[in-house]
Amino acid sequence: MAAPQATAVAAHPLDPLSADEIVRASAIAREHLGAPESLRFLLIAALEPPKRALHDAPRSAELLCFDTESGRTTELIVNLDAAAVTSATPRPGVQPFALFEEYERAEATIRADHDWRAAMAARGLSEPQIDLAFLHLWPTGNFGHKWETEHRILKGIVYLRDTPDDNAYGRPVEGLIAVVDLVQNRVLEVIDEPSPPPAPTALRFDHDHGGAPRRDLKPLDIVQPDGPSFTLDGHLLNWQKWQMRVSLHPREGLVLHQIAYHDDGRLRPICHRASMAEMVVPYGDPAVGHYFKNAFDSGECGLGRMTNSLELGCDCLGEIAYLDAAITDERGGARTINNAICIHEEDVGILWKHTYAKDDGAQSAVRRSRRLVVSSIATIDNYDYGFYWYFYQDGSWEHEAKATGIVQTMAIADDDPQITRHRIAPQLGAVHHQHFLSFRLDLEIDGGPNTVYEIDTVPLPRSAEYPLGNAFTAQATPITDESESGREVQAASARHWRIANDAARNPLGQPPAYLLIPGQTVSMMANEHSTIAQRAAFARKQLWVTAYDPDQRYPAGDYPAQSEPGEGLPQWLAANRPLENTDLVLWYTVGVNHLVRPEDWPVAPVHRAGFTLKPWNFFDRNPALDLPTPNHCAHHET
Ligand code: NI
Repeated sequence: MAAPQATAVAAHPLDPLSADEIVRASAIAREHLGAPESLRFLLIAALEPPKRALHDAPRSAELLCFDTESGRTTELIVNLDAAAVTSATPRPGVQPFALFEEYERAEATIRADHDWRAAMAARGLSEPQIDLAFLHLWPTGNFGHKWETEHRILKGIVYLRDTPDDNAYGRPVEGLIAVVDLVQNRVLEVIDEPSPPPAPTALRFDHDHGGAPRRDLKPLDIVQPDGPSFTLDGHLLNWQKWQMRVSLHPREGLVLHQIAYHDDGRLRPICHRASMAEMVVPYGDPAVGHYFKNAFDSGECGLGRMTNSLELGCDCLGEIAYLDAAITDERGGARTINNAICIHEEDVGILWKHTYAKDDGAQSAVRRSRRLVVSSIATIDNYDYGFYWYFYQDGSWEHEAKATGIVQTMAIADDDPQITRHRIAPQLGAVHHQHFLSFRLDLEIDGGPNTVYEIDTVPLPRSAEYPLGNAFTAQATPITDESESGREVQAASARHWRIANDAARNPLGQPPAYLLIPGQTVSMMANEHSTIAQRAAFARKQLWVTAYDPDQRYPAGDYPAQSEPGEGLPQWLAANRPLENTDLVLWYTVGVNHLVRPEDWPVAPVHRAGFTLKPWNFFDRNPALDLPTPNHCAHHET
């Protein structure tokens, strides 16, 4: 099959692939690989050029190809300009995330399995109950069992439903797990351990179960009669003095590129690329149906391809601009996620204010703060994750992750001691767990090179110089090489990190920098020798710093499904590259501690977690002095 002709539209090197480019890339790859019927495409994405050669590289696509009959994985690079394959790399022994069709086949395989149906029947379940049961297919991790080291597998856990749209998670059939081989399409094992029975009913989250909707909410409309203050030109976004490019990656989800700030006629680079590069959710219960739950929702599940189509007035409120995203349909065609990325503005209270005395009484000067929000939401089975980047008019920016959806449940006895889980409903427990999100921040303050300093606020000992004991200072310790990487938060010293361009100076003679300031976070509870701590080493510390390498993208390795210990960051850090005055990448881990509450059932309110980036010596004064007085302010101070 001949490759379709290129369209005339010239993409920016950092633009995601268009639907047309996806189809062309897959056609070129299919021809190269001999076009077997069993060839599938897990991922077709723009291959971003190395940042120092952005405009020199040909427009290229990276493809992750999987043969469903042989189970073989091949990575391809396709040069779209030349309509040719640049490289084809077989990856024996790895397990890329499962195809959607593999999930479907696995479910059908389990449902048809005689042993599984017999185990369900032995629990007193009728044929209609078995047919209506909900199967949740889980990546299994790797605990050294031959199913995990020699097969491509998922584990199916099962829940009872009264109707197809029931909240299945309310009635787990505890201790019954089917291990299914995705290539051989057969159940390898049915694990069946005596367990408490499922709860008789499930709480749902529709209006029938939530009570009559409240009637005392008055309308709250966001009105911007002249439209929003940002401009969106293709994927290029400008708002106030901020500029960036926005895209959706089929694995990482929302990606921001070339974040920069217009400062008095100069466009000052701040971050070449920012994304959530990996995440892992370790569960803390040893039961047979739970110990293996350690979802790497990005690399093991393909988070970006599960991005929601957002709805106006539901997910985002106000004057919204959306970006659609094209991803592969797994057979080489393209499918579009409409409204994949939401861009809007929000009023967020005051930015600065001061009330001062005047001859005729007190006077206030006040400026309101508005922020730009760039967001997307992905649903990975029971959980929903929102990713929100916020940009402010004082040069700061933030990430806020929002975790919501349905917690992992288990059937528990009335006398359950609730040690690694908590009762959330009658006969129903939820397992304590943690979410760790690894943000890859390819910062380039004023174009780089940069140095990262760890900043601890420390008291100065009493001495002749500081006799009163009131003195304290900010102690800055450079992270000099990768052996010093792997830093932890410390509330007592307000520890944060300063990323500085020591070769540049602000008008006060200081090197411009940004501060990386932790939000609420948590350490990993899994033992350092546990398989999950070894396979998700990034989650054991909050900050890692590496020298820039365009091939080092995923901190738990390129293929975290059923992976061996030590892939990704531990391998990179072994090189122990120097980090001062270098092109750096920061890997910041956001930890969410989830001790599950009854209030998280049957659907969990949003749990927020994130971090802030704040300018330090980047400007020589408050950069928001030039904001206008608010329109609706009764007084207008001069
Ligand atoms: Ni949670």
